[in-house]
Amino acid sequence: MTSRNTIRIALTKGRLEKKTLELLEHSGYDVSELRSGSRKLIFTLPQPENTALPVPEAKVELVLAKAADVITYVEHGVCDMGVVGKDTIMEKGGSFYETLDLGFGKCKFALAGKKGEDFYEGYHTRVIATKYPEVTKAFFSKKHMDVETIKIEGSVELAPLLELADAIVDIVETGTTLKENGLEVYEDVAPISARVIVNVASMKMKKQNILRLTKLLEAALEAK
Ligand code: PRP
Repeated sequence: MTSRNTIRIALTKGRLEKKTLELLEHSGYDVSELRSGSRKLIFTLPQPENTALPVPEAKVELVLAKAADVITYVEHGVCDMGVVGKDTIMEKGGSFYETLDLGFGKCKFALAGKKGEDFYEGYHTRVIATKYPEVTKAFFSKKHMDVETIKIEGSVELAPLLELADAIVDIVETGTTLKENGLEVYEDVAPISARVIVNVASMKMKKQNILRLTKLLEAALEAK
């Protein structure tokens, strides 16, 4: 675990980064060093001043990591908290607390394929291409349907177009990628947004600090 007087938070680099920094800023933290475009990966934030709510006594450290690694660092206790998408949580799983839905980074997992086709027609085993095999397996096992899953690393929309798969399970945000490639959503799989996760031991050992920080974040979300 990290030292008692530090709360180390792993943030997902990229899409969620900007909104997470905005939220921390609205919670009273000065995040300007992270916006300086430096290649540093660990930052110590100055203690907030003049906040209406009690501030954590522990100093806050931010770590920038890839989504799946955020979960790894939190599970192993080298980070106390993390901000990561529900998509990664659903795919990777793990044991940690999921304490807060931050409401941004909203999109969904959906089953999609060529426009106008009836996915459920006939009895053959469907082939599903996806970057998220665990999410896909869980979705079809709930339906008691056997499918063959093929793992694709990106631009999954290609798979039905190239006739590799009958459909895809992928992230849909605006729907533009599907539309521009003649595909459509057959069924929603699950809603996605950014979540706060907390290491199980940290929650016990650093409860007051973590709760104070959570309250600051909640207040900033409400004030929006
Ligand atoms: C994601 C997702 C879709 C696209 C959906 O891909 O896999 O392809 O965004 O967004 P839209 O509904 O707004 O069009 P990403 O950009 O992360 O790249 P990837 O395809 O290489 O994974």
